[in-house]
Amino acid sequence: GKGEYRHFMLKEIFEQPSVIGDTLNSFINPATREITLPADLVEMVAKASRLTLVACGTAFYACHVAKYWFEQIARIPVEIDVASEFRYREAPMPEGGVALFVSQSGETLDTLEALRYCKRQGQKIVSIVNTIESTIERESDMVLHTLAGPEIGVASTKAFTTQLTTLACLVLAAAAKKGAIDAKTVGAMSDSLRQLPSLVNSVLQDTAVTIEKLSREIAEARDVLYLGRGAMYPIALEGALKLKEISYIHAEGYAAGEMKHGPIALIDDKVPVVVLAPHDKLFEKTASNVQETIARGGQVLLFTDRDGLTQLGRGCRWSVRMPVSDAFVAPILYVIPVQLLAYHVAVAKGTDVDQPRNLAKSVTVE
Ligand code: M6R
Repeated sequence: GKGEYRHFMLKEIFEQPSVIGDTLNSFINPATREITLPADLVEMVAKASRLTLVACGTAFYACHVAKYWFEQIARIPVEIDVASEFRYREAPMPEGGVALFVSQSGETLDTLEALRYCKRQGQKIVSIVNTIESTIERESDMVLHTLAGPEIGVASTKAFTTQLTTLACLVLAAAAKKGAIDAKTVGAMSDSLRQLPSLVNSVLQDTAVTIEKLSREIAEARDVLYLGRGAMYPIALEGALKLKEISYIHAEGYAAGEMKHGPIALIDDKVPVVVLAPHDKLFEKTASNVQETIARGGQVLLFTDRDGLTQLGRGCRWSVRMPVSDAFVAPILYVIPVQLLAYHVAVAKGTDVDQPRNLAKSVTVE
């Protein structure tokens, strides 16, 4: 049941520290810090001439974050696509390629058909699924399980963060196997992963009240934009998807640098602009996009850490302070407040949070 929580979605958001921890412990030995992913899987991924990551919806955004990680950290070329496009694209696939499918249910039809296509193209098939003994699992060469437990809310939350956790472990293991990063870096990155449960917990504790308050104002908006750069870009897309799914407010995610190529024309003082901007290598770039938005009357809701706030907090309508973290794990932290934002906006609007109109938990038809 929902226990003390008003909705399954809220319960599932608050379960994230523990299910991320369970998932981590299944891939990294908590005592020895050793990565315990199957050696044959890690070797296959490390040697892949190319990885093709395919999924739908939120699971696709997990693939999108993983593309940044696999390319930057493990130096493996990655292609990503949504399954409904990929399956009909007739893409040529490289010899020695590995195709990876991400699905909470393991039953999404488009994802399954994309998997079958890749199999016919001679790719090795890996899947990351949450439900045990699904069709996608059965048809894969190898499988990794996210330990999110049953997810009831139609809006995916804990499945997403455990997918990211699983992908992050795989990236780290593949990078170590390839020698793309040295042992010291591997150790530091695995320490960052192991701090996730407590960091996610502190984000939940420290931001929930502020977000609930400001969400009453966001609930008045007709349109909301979400901006991010690098691995924060897919988190912006995920934030926008969460908001439209459950609050029915029109929302769009954009790469921050794309603003001046069109979307900035939408900005006026009625459009909240949610900006995900940890103080990292890309911060200055995003900051200048934020300044352009503010200059046009845009009402910015900034999610950033201490240094980001010092630099950019003043011009923003709202801001939420995030903990300082390693850039590697930041996407897993920054999705938490956008889940909370969507949740509280939906509650303020009085929609059916757990079962939004027109949507099904598992999409087994085309
Ligand atoms: O079961 P799957 O992970 O394959 O489902 C994929 C999407 O249908 C799913 O993530 C959907 O986008 C969610 N409702 C998003 O919150």
